[in-house]
Amino acid sequence: MRTQVAIVGAGPAGLLLSHLLWMEGIDSIVLENRSRDYVEKRVRAGVCEDPTVKLLREVGLAERLDVEGMPHRGIVLRFDGEDHRIALTDLTGRTITVYGQQEIVKDLIAARLKADAQIHFEVSDVELHDVTGDKPRVTYMDSDGVAHEIQADVIAGCDGFHGISRPSVPDSDLTVYDHVYPFAWLGVLVEAPPANDELIYANHENGFALHSMRTPEVTRLYLQVDPADSLDRWSDARIWDELQTRFAIDGFALHEGPILERLLSPMRSFVVEPMRYGRLFLAGDSAHIVPPTGAKGMNLAVHDVLVLSRALKALLSEGNSDLVDSYSDTCLRRVWRAEQFSYFMTTMLHRDNHADAFQHRLRLAQLRYTASSSAAATSLAENYVGLPFP
Ligand code: FAD
Ligand code: DHB
Repeated sequence: MRTQVAIVGAGPAGLLLSHLLWMEGIDSIVLENRSRDYVEKRVRAGVCEDPTVKLLREVGLAERLDVEGMPHRGIVLRFDGEDHRIALTDLTGRTITVYGQQEIVKDLIAARLKADAQIHFEVSDVELHDVTGDKPRVTYMDSDGVAHEIQADVIAGCDGFHGISRPSVPDSDLTVYDHVYPFAWLGVLVEAPPANDELIYANHENGFALHSMRTPEVTRLYLQVDPADSLDRWSDARIWDELQTRFAIDGFALHEGPILERLLSPMRSFVVEPMRYGRLFLAGDSAHIVPPTGAKGMNLAVHDVLVLSRALKALLSEGNSDLVDSYSDTCLRRVWRAEQFSYFMTTMLHRDNHADAFQHRLRLAQLRYTASSSAAATSLAENYVGLPFP
């Protein structure tokens, strides 16, 4: 088989890249090791930045998002037993939209299949070959166990943090920046209406908690837990008890309901430089991870593939390699901004049991400053809604 761009991974990065390339008249094949059903049901991100929503609209992918997505004009920081609202829209003129990542994935798959795109699900043994030459190849096994080879002009490694693309690059050609936090998130999806119209980032002495949502009938909640913890130690009753404790302020109670899904997610910051090796381009979680507190991971993946699609158009349609040569630097500038913001949000909002009393006081001082100074609140808000795409 031959294509211009072989894309490994059908998450937001790989699918959106395939769509953007198609709009530029460039063909691609997407390989995904999970089933379509699995990727369409995988519950992950919820917050779309303003530039992400605008891009999805521009490229014809926002029909359902514009009906079902929930635009938000503010978020709440809950600490010291009180709510402190960060008025995102008053401070920046922009909004964020709550729309589940799996809904974006569903919309993308539907749009790609409508255009007769090749997405191969449930493949295995994906391997990359000759990526430093000008005829890279990808080999894999299809769902019936039949071996295939794709010859391409370039390969896009969009296969997430645990994929094979990044490990295909020799260690000596990548610099790794890795920071592991002493926190994890226990996330639950609940069949009950959200208890508040806006997201609540709560700082409590037992640890951080986050109130989010997916629809007017479905609430998304997270609890900070120890990374060594396990889901079987958290009964439904214990989860609700801890959530109600961490969100407790006068006049507020979470709406409880059946727990539809649960996950435990460790928190880390991770970046590799550069995001390119020969004709292999890394995009999204395969190149970088942020802790989820800043809601940036999927949004970064969207920015990466926008930059990559423009660069590949210049290379493959016009023979101009300037943009592929600057791809990594262009993306990394936004990646490091998001790494810093996510680190800031994470350290400000979580309870670190290894920190000393002095550090706890500093954290509280930062929270109070962020909530009371319009300069500090604006800084949080402009990062949270997302700095404009180039
Ligand atoms: P992925 O979504 O991981 O997609 C990679 C794809 O590659 C997967 O489908 C995988 O199955 C496939 N794959 C892996 N290995 C192979 C292989 N060998 N061969 C073929 N296919 C392979 N981000 C936000 O922007 N906002 C948020 O609010 C937010 N909240 C989050 C909350 C939680 C609890 C978590 C865990 C994450 C959150 N994120 C958020 C981050 C976001 O989910 C990720 O950054 C996003 O999924 C990255 O997209 P991606 O396409 O790069 O990678
Ligand atoms: C959600 C996830 C986040 O990481 C965040 O910061 C806000 C909301 C969510 O899943 O809804």
